[in-house]
Amino acid sequence: MKTGKIRINWIPTPILGLIIALVPLIFTAAVDEAQKELPSSHAFAGIENVWRMDTRLLSGGDPNGESGLKLLKSKGIKTIISVDGATPPVEIARRMGLRYVHIPVGYDGIPFNQQIALAQAFAQMPKPIYIHCHHGRHRAPAAASIMAQFGLGWSKDQAIAFMLKAGTSKDYSGLYDSVNQFQVPDKKAISAIKTPLPESVEMPALVDMMVQFDQRFDRLKAWLGNDLDRKGKTTAGDASKIDPLHDAIQLRELVRESSRLPECRDQPAEFSSQMGKLESDLTQWLERIKPRTPTDALETDATTDLKAILNSMTTRCATCHRSFRDKPLKKREPSS
Ligand code: HEC
Repeated sequence: MKTGKIRINWIPTPILGLIIALVPLIFTAAVDEAQKELPSSHAFAGIENVWRMDTRLLSGGDPNGESGLKLLKSKGIKTIISVDGATPPVEIARRMGLRYVHIPVGYDGIPFNQQIALAQAFAQMPKPIYIHCHHGRHRAPAAASIMAQFGLGWSKDQAIAFMLKAGTSKDYSGLYDSVNQFQVPDKKAISAIKTPLPESVEMPALVDMMVQFDQRFDRLKAWLGNDLDRKGKTTAGDASKIDPLHDAIQLRELVRESSRLPECRDQPAEFSSQMGKLESDLTQWLERIKPRTPTDALETDATTDLKAILNSMTTRCATCHRSFRDKPLKKREPSS
């Protein structure tokens, strides 16, 4: 009762008025400052969501093989960091004189070890560095924000503002937590780390499967022109060459195969129930699509049905991810 009120009464009214009037100005100035220094997006043909954080660091989507790597090379990139679960194309990159570093992270946050590896990569690898996940929207901007705090002197506000600008979903609160709680480690200690950074890390079978889920599913979306993320452009390949029957069969096989993985058999019943629903959506898709060849036009009612099935599948992916993939890391290891 004493503190707050008495202090305010102590300040003469005109000064108090001035302070109150200034608060929004000060706040706006801070926001402007953060906005001004936010990276700008760059159109790199065939690569999604490219952001230049600085001359030394760019963030974006998967280069999608040789042509993307060539483009990055032509832009002067020297090191590529993948935070995605997919196996990086190490050989192709090497032939072009590019270095790959694989620091896979989940959607639940960036664990301490990976934060240190990101800092180490910034300290030790040739620059400019291009860091990517699959679409360049969630994990890469988060990982890049950790590197920017370490190497580019970014504040937390700047880092969070960048993630928002890059479109990192707030559903991945673990990613935001990691960036928010990151404590910049000692530069000398990081530079002195001797453990080599891996070019490619072997991932758990389920992650491998999920990477393939994603590729097949992207193709189904692109084929149906329902590629909402990318506003019509597709990195899944030439949409007219996609065979939605083949990709759906492959995806259904992947679903069945993943259900048999030991890491999935030990999951709660809800997990297998979600997998089962995804499988039956795919069966419906196949029934609807079977009588046609890739070049036949679809009847309008079939398109409507297929869109509904695709939306349902999207929900299956998201529902299971919310329960089993995206929950923030429980307790962050101490960061020092
Ligand atoms: C029944 C549960 C379930 C369903 C259904 C599911 N997933 Fe997953 N997915 C997971 C889990 C669990 C992980 C995290 C695996 C890990 O990190 O160990 C994951 C991870 C992923 C990843 C991240 C891989 C990486 O690089 O780390 C992608 C991409 C993905 N899933 C795509 C999809 C797509 C697309 C669908 C729908 C067609 C889908 N998933 C359906 C459970 C599911």
